[in-house]
Amino acid sequence: MAQEKKNAGKRAAEFVEDQMTVGLGTGSTVFYLVEALAKRVKNETLNITAVATSSRTAELAQKLGITVKSLDEVDHLDLTIDGADEIDANFQGIKGGGGAQTLEKIVACASSKNIWIVDEFKMVYKLGNFGLPLEVIPFGSKELFARLKREGLKPAWRLDENKEHVLTHNHNYLIDLRLGLIEHPHLLANWLDHQVGIVEHGLFLDVVDTVVVGKSEKTEVIPAIRR
Ligand code: A5P
Repeated sequence: MAQEKKNAGKRAAEFVEDQMTVGLGTGSTVFYLVEALAKRVKNETLNITAVATSSRTAELAQKLGITVKSLDEVDHLDLTIDGADEIDANFQGIKGGGGAQTLEKIVACASSKNIWIVDEFKMVYKLGNFGLPLEVIPFGSKELFARLKREGLKPAWRLDENKEHVLTHNHNYLIDLRLGLIEHPHLLANWLDHQVGIVEHGLFLDVVDTVVVGKSEKTEVIPAIRR
């Protein structure tokens, strides 16, 4: 899987052009993207500015010589390249396996174009096999958890090896919904959007423009055409 992710990251780095302001996502596939992009910046003396969706990505990019600014320091984003956890046949996605979906969604929504980079195993017919991540405010989160359970959404706290809550960048908790299958992503997203206490969920609907799928031997660049 590492090879497929590497191929996708490398290929997507080619979409970045001189003078662009680029959003950089989070995760292991993005790691390869940042490596490849840093090589291009150095070899082709590209003048780009990056906005990172996590401190992990920001540190890596800076270490490799890419200029990083915060979203509030730039006036636009030309392109954002990010990983994803599942992409369905209609190019809707689940993100947040790394718990960074809130910053990732803010950056994606601020970007003129979005590219997702995945290995071929993440392309599915329907979403839901991957747990749907929710970032939730700790205050009252037990009540929210119970509400999700009553709705049949099979919530599970995201805990570390010491059974402590995994905390997001914003010091919030994470809940994963083990749904198995999401028949109506827009209806679910709309319901989640209206639940007080949820900061952001991992359904990224009608967001992506292009998907770069890494395979063992090659990569495929697919325009996201939704039915
Ligand atoms: C981070 O919160 C996620 O949205 C990642 O983009 C996603 O989990 C993909 O991660 P990998 O590239 O590590 O599989």
